[in-house]
Parts: sequence; structure tokens; C-alpha cells
Amino acid sequence: MGLLLFLHVLLVAVAARAPAAHAWGKEGHYMTCKIAESFLTKEASTAVKDLLPGWAGGDLAETCSWADTQRFRYRWSSPLHFADSEGGCKFVYSRDCHNTKGEKDMCVVGAINNYTAALEDSSSPFDPTESLMFLAHFVGDVHQPLHCGNTDDLGGNTIIVHWYRRKSNLHKVWDVNVIETAMKDFYNNDMSTMIKAIQLNITEDWSNEEKQWETCSSRTKTCADKYANESAKLGCTAYEGVEQGSTLGDDYFFSALPVVEKRIAQGGVRLAVILNKIFSGNGRLQSS
Ligand SMILES: *[C@@H]1O[C@H](CO)[C@@H](O)[C@H](O)[C@H]1NC(C)=O
Ligand SMILES: *[C@@H]1O[C@H](CO)[C@@H](O)[C@H](O)[C@H]1NC(C)=O
Ligand SMILES: *[C@@H]1O[C@H](CO)[C@@H](O)[C@H](O)[C@H]1NC(C)=O
Repeated sequence: MGLLLFLHVLLVAVAARAPAAHAWGKEGHYMTCKIAESFLTKEASTAVKDLLPGWAGGDLAETCSWADTQRFRYRWSSPLHFADSEGGCKFVYSRDCHNTKGEKDMCVVGAINNYTAALEDSSSPFDPTESLMFLAHFVGDVHQPLHCGNTDDLGGNTIIVHWYRRKSNLHKVWDVNVIETAMKDFYNNDMSTMIKAIQLNITEDWSNEEKQWETCSSRTKTCADKYANESAKLGCTAYEGVEQGSTLGDDYFFSALPVVEKRIAQGGVRLAVILNKIFSGNGRLQSS
């Protein structure tokens, strides 16, 4: 076996053994951040670029999966990727936002508020580059319905299913499988085509409701609790008709895809609103 082939086999083997992920896949995060970038004010865009690490090449989207690579280095950050709850199809901050040790605020909603506050406060002790990369990631995560799923099944991670013919789990279906299948079937495996289709919808089909996505009446915090509550409700629907060992195919795909695309759009718009508010003091979108 040639060295390259050997390395490839090794990488595939390592990837197959990676622990259950708890995040939109790379694509979901990249698309959310690309959409956000297109709505940043000039001021916010410059401030964001100044904070990015060199390896990002000036592109926020390149850093939007960074947080997933830090889950083992920063063990405390692992529960910050989600906000599972006891059920009831809703997210209640005081009941649900804690880690397994019961420490309050240690969930994705608390984290979004934490890193927004840190970036707004120039005397914050936290590294602003890390705060930005965490924030951009978590605003994506809170929009993934099964990041606000049931505690019992770890947001669908323990529900083993077949996605068409391949083994997967319900959480992963929502993180990556729906997006990958859509890319292959509809977007010629080209992420920029998929991003363009979602962006076009924001200005056309969704232009009326889009204004509501932006609305946040909280003066002191972000509206991440509202986004988690939306996800919890959508998450409830995502569980419907799915059991251990279910095979999910076209029916499930065609009902999940519009939800996934809209959540990516909402995540992008809201990340832009948050960043514009932090860096240019005005939580409105830059119209292109
Ligand atoms: C807030 O951010 C700091 C620095 O990254 C981290 O240590 C802390 O756990 C975070 N808390 C929450 C609720 O996100
Ligand atoms: C969460 O959503 C439910 C409906 O799904 C609603 O009754 C409840 O008021 C919402 N809670 C918050 C904090 O928005
Ligand atoms: C665009 O919006 C329509 C109407 O909500 C929806 O059916 C369709 O799936 C959306 N397409 C994309 C690419 O988001």
C-alpha cells in the first residue's frame, strides 16, 4: 500500500471513530457564517477581520468550526454547544441551561450571551479572537433543532438510524446528512451554489418574515433563548416517527431540508445582527 493510500485509510479510520459530534457539521457552520458576512456593516466587517487569526485568511467562515476542535482542549466548552431539555417541546432557560454538574448558564444560550458581553466589553479578560470564534459557532449551533433536543437521548445522538443505506444517528442526520444529500442531489456538490440559493430566498421568499428574525427586544442580552425555544419546537417534530433502527429516506429528507435551509438562513441573519450591534452599535443588517 502506497504511503498516501495508507494515510488516507488511517484518516478514514480515525474519522470513523470520532466521538458523537454535537454541532452542525462543517458545512452548516460555514454556510451560516458566509450568510452572516454578507450582511455585516462595513464597520463590523473591518472589526471582525481585525480579530480573526492569521490562518483564517480574512474570512470569518473559515473559523466557524474552530470551536468543535477545542472540545477536548477546553473540556468545559463541550456543554456550550447545545441546550437539551427534559422535553415538552420548549426551552426554559432557568430549567434547562446548565451543564451536567448543574452549573448555571453552561449551555449554548448562556454561551452566546457570555461571548456577546465579552466582545462588547473592552476590559473583558477573555481573548477576543476566541470570543468571536465561539460566538459565530454557537449562533449556528442554537439554530440546529436537535441541539435543543431531549436530554435522555443526547439530542438524538443515541438514536441509531439508517440514512438511506448508511448507518447514522438522528443527531447526525440533522448536523450533516441532510446537508450532504442536498448538496449532492441539488447543488452539484458545490457549497457556494447552496449558499446562493439560501441567500436568494432571504431576499425573496422569506423577505417578509426576515424582519422578524432580526427583531430582538432584549436590551441586556441576546435573544438566543428565543432561538433555542424555536429549535426545541422544531426538534420535537424531528423526533416524530423515528425509532431506534428506523430507516430515514426521501420522506424524511424532503420534510427536513426546508427546515435546515431556513435555520441556516436565520442563523446567518441573526449572527450578522449580533455582530453589527457589537461592532457598529446598531443591530441592523447592511442592505446590499
Ligand atoms: C464564558 O467564557 C469564558 C472564557 O471562554 C469561559 O471560561 C466560561 O466558561 C464561559 N461561560 C459561559 C456560560 O459560556
Ligand atoms: C417557547 O415556545 C412556546 C411555544 O412553543 C411558548 O409557549 C413559550 O412562551 C416560549 N417561551 C419563550 C421564553 O419564548
Ligand atoms: C426557499 O423558500 C421556499 C419557501 O419557503 C422553500 O420551499 C424552499 O425550500 C427554500 N429554498 C431554499 C434553498 O432555501
